[in-house]
Amino acid sequence: MNHTAPKVTVVGSLNVDLVCRAMRRPDKGETLIGDAFDIFTGGKGFNQATAAARLGADVTLIGSVGADLFGDMLLAATENEHIDSRFVTKRTNVGTGVATIVIEPDGDNSIIVVPRANMALTTANIDAAADCIADADVLLLQLETPIAVSEHAAAIAKKHDTRVILNPAPAQPLPDSLLGYVDILTPNQSETELLSEMKVSNHEEARRAAKVLRARMVDTADAAVVLTLGEQGALMLTATTSEHISALSVEPVDTTGAGDAFCGALATALANGETLRSAVAFANAAGAAAVTVMGATPSMPTRTKIDRLSNFQY
Ligand code: RIB
Repeated sequence: MNHTAPKVTVVGSLNVDLVCRAMRRPDKGETLIGDAFDIFTGGKGFNQATAAARLGADVTLIGSVGADLFGDMLLAATENEHIDSRFVTKRTNVGTGVATIVIEPDGDNSIIVVPRANMALTTANIDAAADCIADADVLLLQLETPIAVSEHAAAIAKKHDTRVILNPAPAQPLPDSLLGYVDILTPNQSETELLSEMKVSNHEEARRAAKVLRARMVDTADAAVVLTLGEQGALMLTATTSEHISALSVEPVDTTGAGDAFCGALATALANGETLRSAVAFANAAGAAAVTVMGATPSMPTRTKIDRLSNFQY
């Protein structure tokens, strides 16, 4: 791999986020009057690709949108963010993915994602972009596109020494055949509980569950679980170490996309040759920066924003 900028290839979703701000989530059968409405670009794949691109990575996104206004909006956004979208396929038989999001005053959210075109992504689409996976430093995956397709991409990555990061969101059970290709897994607390079938209510329980997950991943000394714990930071577990890295303290406006900023930053730092510890600290700062801004994609931070927030020495 003889390229200068770190190269990150993302296989993932592109959504348009329909965001309502309200005093609280509606109860069953209730109609609530909200305070504000916005339309943002989003989708875990697009958000993570944007974070990596804003932080200096050379990013290729492999995904699928509909031939509609939302699809055009997302393709224009990939261009604005300098993301290579040659492998974002436009489908005529299904609409672009959407997410409806409610944000409460403390910044907490509830999300319904309707994947639509994201689920139409195929292994043939991955094969068409195989060179971009082979040539990347890091392949970054989430779970808003078909699992079999992610697994196919991860298998290509593994043949070419490309590091595989899987952000297992939204939470769902995963086959060992996919986890067996994963170098770095980045679950949050509830995803860890679902995948390990263990309760995670303190750092010791988190460590134990992370160990169970790590045993299902690629069998190398470098395989690591980076368990994100929101405002408590992240727990990093490798073959030989386990370390808790604290989060920066910020006033939350909207937590949507914080995990995506974390994963995009982690991928960029690792692709740049940083140590896992330094990459996790940087990703923590990126996640903290993201919660201070409304909207998922708009909150993906630049390097300047992260430095300003943390005086981080990278
Ligand atoms: O992680 C946040 C993202 O989840 C949103 O942008 C929404 O589209 C869903 O994919």
